[in-house]
Amino acid sequence: MKKGESRKTSKSTNKISSKKIVSKVKLSTAGKKSVKQVANTPSNFLNVNHRKFNYIKTYVPGFDELIDDGIPAGNAILIEGGPGSGKTVFGLEVVKRACMKGKKVLFMSFEEPEDRLRAHMEAFGSNAENFEKQGFLKIKRFNALDIARSVEALLSEAKKELLIDVQPVLIPEGFDPDIVIIDSLSSIASSFSGEDSRFRIYMEQLFRYLEKHNMTSFLIREVSNPTHTGNTFVEKGEAVSFLSDGIISIYNVFYKGGKRKRAIEVIKMRGSGIDRRIVEFDIKKGKGAICYPNRVLKGDFILT
Ligand SMILES: Nc1ncnc2c1ncn2[C@@H]1O[C@H](COP(=O)(O)OP(=O)(O)OP(=O)(O)O)[C@@H](O)[C@H]1O
Ligand SMILES: [Mg+2]
Repeated sequence: MKKGESRKTSKSTNKISSKKIVSKVKLSTAGKKSVKQVANTPSNFLNVNHRKFNYIKTYVPGFDELIDDGIPAGNAILIEGGPGSGKTVFGLEVVKRACMKGKKVLFMSFEEPEDRLRAHMEAFGSNAENFEKQGFLKIKRFNALDIARSVEALLSEAKKELLIDVQPVLIPEGFDPDIVIIDSLSSIASSFSGEDSRFRIYMEQLFRYLEKHNMTSFLIREVSNPTHTGNTFVEKGEAVSFLSDGIISIYNVFYKGGKRKRAIEVIKMRGSGIDRRIVEFDIKKGKGAICYPNRVLKGDFILT
């Protein structure tokens, strides 16, 4: 797929003509804002099928065995899990491995300060400052409230329509990352304090921006219950699952005897086959995240 082409956009496009397509995404919630966007020409839609994906690996020990070909470059991947399940540590493991392979990574933190994240990396055996000095890594902390305020300002300016020409995230100048990690979408969501429609508008922009710039992204999202298990599919206004190309779920497993373990599963990965099983995951002192693709969860357990 070429830079700037949109796979996901086709979902929201309801009319195809030989001209550029303008699709309108109507939001069903308060305000009924409509979002105008310029999508692809029909020929570009057709060409997508004939292109091959470029796959990337995470190099997180054991994890890549769960995905047949790898993660298609440019994909937006959600990392979901409950509090303390290991989402940030998994993200930092991706950072470490990517930097070691000479990739450029931007870690955008809406939660922990930069130095704490550097200290975590240090505790897991890698030197973040060295990666930063070598130009492979940038760790930046952002204030989620600033984002909510600027979306709010835009909406009041635009009155009826929000034209998507806003840069939804600030990529440091002169830094062209291969991988972007955002920790977390949940922090951004909470800064919109109940304004679900605005959060959705922002998410649309963010996913489109990452796609346009062909950045492979890992977007961390805290969920109170695993959203993909059980009878209900809880979205709570964070309608991001359908925008994402892949979902990795990290679980706090509770065994009936009182023991807890960690587990991991790939829920979806557009563009690659996946190993559909829930396997053990661990955080090793001094080492970091590790996945055991052959240790499928067994026994009497609940995923939390
Ligand atoms: N330096 C460390 N050494 C050993 N274990 C650690 C270290 N840092 C974190 N852990 C373990 O990893 C667990 C998960 O931490 P992590 O910060 O990745 O969780 P999280 O899913 O991002 O949580 P939250 O939703 O609160 O941000 C911690 O609860 C802790 O048990
Ligand atoms: Mg975290």
